[in-house]
Amino acid sequence: MSSRRPLVAGNWKMNLTAAQGVQLVQKVDEFCRDLTAGTRENVDVVVAPPFTAIHSASTVIDIDRMQLGLGAQNMHWEDEGAFTGEISPTMLRAARVGYVILGHSERREHFFETDEMINKKVKAAFERGITPILCCGESLETREAEDTLTFIEGQIRAGLVGISAATATGLVVAYEPIWAIGTGRTATPKMAEEVCEHIRTVLEDMFGPTIKSNTRILYGGSVKAENAELFFSEENIDGALVGGAALTADTFNPIIAAAAKV
Ligand code: 13P
Repeated sequence: MSSRRPLVAGNWKMNLTAAQGVQLVQKVDEFCRDLTAGTRENVDVVVAPPFTAIHSASTVIDIDRMQLGLGAQNMHWEDEGAFTGEISPTMLRAARVGYVILGHSERREHFFETDEMINKKVKAAFERGITPILCCGESLETREAEDTLTFIEGQIRAGLVGISAATATGLVVAYEPIWAIGTGRTATPKMAEEVCEHIRTVLEDMFGPTIKSNTRILYGGSVKAENAELFFSEENIDGALVGGAALTADTFNPIIAAAAKV
């Protein structure tokens, strides 16, 4: 078991209205408060609503003093300007957002985000005090060609170009094989572990042993109550980035419980 505190983050993607989001946040918070003393402190929980639900989620988290982190699913790297449809790091900070998911495969694939854009976003997040959750993941084609480790290494190096070891403190990485997202098909815990371990060696090469051992690396891709514990018991997996199962308290809360237990 590692000394890293597990992190369970719910990526709501393009789901839930502001009102539905508040209800979900309240149910997740209630569950977290009911976790036995000595257990709740074992896990960080983050919700990442769509932009339209961020403010209301932020308000309820603040007013009810919830111990929940708030994340965004994307952001632009500039602070302001003529970028129709975009949201800036400053805006996220003002909404008390502490985390931002960057480089998700859906953004890379459907919105043509490049490693270069993702790198600018990662830098902007660090500069503004927002924790980046840098996503990486290979396609089925890459896995079948046995190029996974090289491909993932390329994404990690490119996403973190020009970042110093001092800045990289607090980085979170999410390994999400594309073929396991929303498909019900998960990587085996051993497959995920192999990649997460490799990510750690890349981080060590880039930033040294402290970042290697302190960085939290999450697995994502069809994580559910039934399989979460298997992933969490792997040495190099420190939690999950959850999609579909993060949309209801009934499916998300048991994943939190599984992480708290490890
Ligand atoms: P699913 O849990 O729905 O497979 O989504 C994973 C994901 O993409 C989280 O960012």
